[in-house]
Amino acid sequence: MMKSIKVLDKEFVPMIPAEDIANEVRRVANEINRDYEGKNPLFLAILNGSFMFAADLLREINIPCEITFVKMSSYEGVSSTGTVNEIIGLNKSIEGRDVIIVEDIVDSGVTMAHILETLEGHNPNSLEICTFFVKPENLKIDLDIRYTAMGIPNDFIIGYGLDYDGYARNLKDIWVLKS
Ligand code: IMP
Ligand code: MG
Repeated sequence: MMKSIKVLDKEFVPMIPAEDIANEVRRVANEINRDYEGKNPLFLAILNGSFMFAADLLREINIPCEITFVKMSSYEGVSSTGTVNEIIGLNKSIEGRDVIIVEDIVDSGVTMAHILETLEGHNPNSLEICTFFVKPENLKIDLDIRYTAMGIPNDFIIGYGLDYDGYARNLKDIWVLKS
């Protein structure tokens, strides 16, 4: 019988082992080390999901760099309908900087599109996306994603920073919802 874990009410089965994750982190970091040589990039990690990827990625970066963390807050607009997303905690100036956004996963791309739009208004010198996961089948927005560690099918996954209702971010491997 295949091993599985239970998180709250759902069952998950193994999908990607930690060793594979580490290999892809190193590969992406090496691309960044090469592309940003002589520059001084500012990594901008989107909390909460990217904390683990950001920590692993930065340990593989061997050029001068800085990192800062922001969070997306969602709230219902007062006068408009629908959800409004806002970046909170951007207390470091990104003006003139070579910014690399660090995300855990790009799914529909809606969150990332909003982050890009907001950050572009702060006049960075350059702005690129570095995401661990992307679900290409689910992308609804045409995003130029410069660095992707792994493309995955449109399944719900947990672990390595990704949560199910706040839980399972601590898991070293990636687990997928049992079908
Ligand atoms: P998007 O705006 O549709 O691209 O959604 C991105 C956000 O959805 C991510 O930052 C995650 O918080 C969440 N998300 C998307 N897919 C998954 C998944 O498979 N597991 C856990 N969270 C996910
Ligand atoms: Mg996220």
